[in-house]
Amino acid sequence: MKITWLGHSAFLIEGRNRIAIDPFLTGNPLAATTPDKVQCDLICVTHGHSDHVGDAVSIAKKNKAKILTMVELAGILEKSGCDVTGFNIGGSVKIGETTVTMTSATHSSGADEQGFEGAAGTPAGFVIESGNTVYHAGDTGLFGDMSLIGELYPIDVALLPIGGFYTMDVVQAAKAVELLRPKMAIPMHFNTWPPIKADPAAFKSLVEKKTKTLVKILKPGESLTV
Ligand code: NI
Ligand code: MN
Repeated sequence: MKITWLGHSAFLIEGRNRIAIDPFLTGNPLAATTPDKVQCDLICVTHGHSDHVGDAVSIAKKNKAKILTMVELAGILEKSGCDVTGFNIGGSVKIGETTVTMTSATHSSGADEQGFEGAAGTPAGFVIESGNTVYHAGDTGLFGDMSLIGELYPIDVALLPIGGFYTMDVVQAAKAVELLRPKMAIPMHFNTWPPIKADPAAFKSLVEKKTKTLVKILKPGESLTV
């Protein structure tokens, strides 16, 4: 499996299928690519905020890719004519050779993308099994049930926000790694804008002091193969 960080919380996972997550590229100061270059079969959107919905609609249309998201946000995005499957926390959807399970996230989720405003339900994270198992936490604070996610779905790679202000900070994200026990962790959602300035090296040293998890700090556009 190849995991490419596209900047902020946007990733492209190339496992048994190609999955884009939170593809916010237009207007993203750290975007590693443009929406027209993203090739994917599935798009997972964690919540309604514009830095996560991003270019999901245009990428879905161009690739004829299905969007997977929370049921209320699905109702909003469906109006664009995209193929959207709305499900909810605890549910799993199998598409092709990939299973996506929706997990909790402690955050908010009003859709604020122009033309797609509305109450978008609750925010989520995803466990994506597509050859390897990846957990994308979405935007979230720290919560104790992360240990249940790690227990039920042994995680190869955890994608975790570390920027603080809107989500977990470095210290909280390091605690999240202790609860999730993934083989590897990749920090996200930091340094896009001044309020979420954070030091990924501090996250790496905290995690590797306390756990056996390896932290891989990617640059936007950089990939990790597991
Ligand atoms: Ni958010
Ligand atoms: Mn965000």
